[in-house]
Amino acid sequence: MGESGPGLLTPITIRGVTCRNRIVISPMQQYNATRDGMPNDWHHVHLSKLAIGGAGLIFTEAMGISPDARLTWADIGIWDDGFVSPLARLAEAMMRHGAVAGVQINHAGRKASVQRPWHGFDPLTEADARARGESPWPTVSASALPANPGWPTPRAIAHDEIRRTLDDFAAAARRANRAGFQAMNVHGAHGYLIHSFLSPLSNTRDDAYGGSLANRMRYALEVADAVRSEWPADKPFFYRLSCVDDVDGGWTLDDTVALSREFAKRGVDVVDCSSGGLGRRTTTAIVTREPGYQVPYAERVRREAGLPTMAVGLIREPRHADSIVAGGRADFVAIGREALFNPNWPAQAAVVLGGPSRYDDWPPAYGWWLKTRSRTLEVSKLPQTIGI
Ligand SMILES: Cc1cc2nc3c(=O)[nH]c(=O)nc-3n(C[C@H](O)[C@H](O)[C@H](O)COP(=O)(O)O)c2cc1C
Repeated sequence: MGESGPGLLTPITIRGVTCRNRIVISPMQQYNATRDGMPNDWHHVHLSKLAIGGAGLIFTEAMGISPDARLTWADIGIWDDGFVSPLARLAEAMMRHGAVAGVQINHAGRKASVQRPWHGFDPLTEADARARGESPWPTVSASALPANPGWPTPRAIAHDEIRRTLDDFAAAARRANRAGFQAMNVHGAHGYLIHSFLSPLSNTRDDAYGGSLANRMRYALEVADAVRSEWPADKPFFYRLSCVDDVDGGWTLDDTVALSREFAKRGVDVVDCSSGGLGRRTTTAIVTREPGYQVPYAERVRREAGLPTMAVGLIREPRHADSIVAGGRADFVAIGREALFNPNWPAQAAVVLGGPSRYDDWPPAYGWWLKTRSRTLEVSKLPQTIGI
């Protein structure tokens, strides 16, 4: 694979939206919204700081398309028109600092109704209701199979409820557009409702939504249609998938390629290539993983389905990230936890890859000073950046 293509810092245009570089902040729930799903100052500062840090595109956390679609009581919601104005404030903050404002929408399915991570991340019980006023609620999934042993058994979602979730996805897309978001990300990964339909391990239905691969893909494709029907033609549409299950007998990379080919016909623009999470709580379990462990998924989908892809997962080195894009393995590189640690990672990566002149890309309140410092560093023979 040659390394002659555009690199990490090369702008990219999808439909009518141009990102200043290919660095994306991966969706990350903050579990910090108010009980009624409203974002607050935490989210505003968090997203503003990431935008100042130089990312080309930032996705918000997964927002619940209905109250029961949330993971926790502290997820942001998008199920009512009352969310449009507070969400517009977030989108505006990201755009003001040069990032493309992205939004992620989700139905958590059988992994809804859990505690915040730092309260245990287990299913909510009456004890949580007593301790914090966070009562459990009933969950739905493709089939009545719990996500983990000992977890509450979800109800197999009925046809009229499926219809309602499609309406909820469409309405969420409409509100996200009204709030000014420029890029959409539908969460089809990590064991949530869409993924529960895809995987044969969580879908044992015997109707039109279960059995064959085409049937198991039906719901994911209906969501794509519902969202595209409300999401403007000039705005990009990302779809996040768990490209493989973390369990034998589950969803495979061949299945992901087949689904991505169908996505391409339905106006999905980028496949966001994650993995796992069907039964586990998150995809961030502490197991041995090497930097870029999910890049091969992005590479194969890109090559065989002909859709642009986004790679994610333990990518922390600017030169590594650049080689993923330049080598034609993915069109975007997303960073998650590294951005929590260092919100200026994109700006720092730009200096590592492009030299001190890249300080000019930063708001002058930072960039002017750092460029001045870079000359001092040069004279003193000190490295321009440390740490990455
Ligand atoms: C705090 C936190 C919250 C997350 N929330 C979401 C989310 O809302 N939606 C999603 O698709 N992935 C979510 N993820 C997964 C990340 O988007 C990303 O795929 C994962 O952390 C791997 O990338 P990294 O190694 O760069 O962190 C979350 C991860 C973290 C650490």
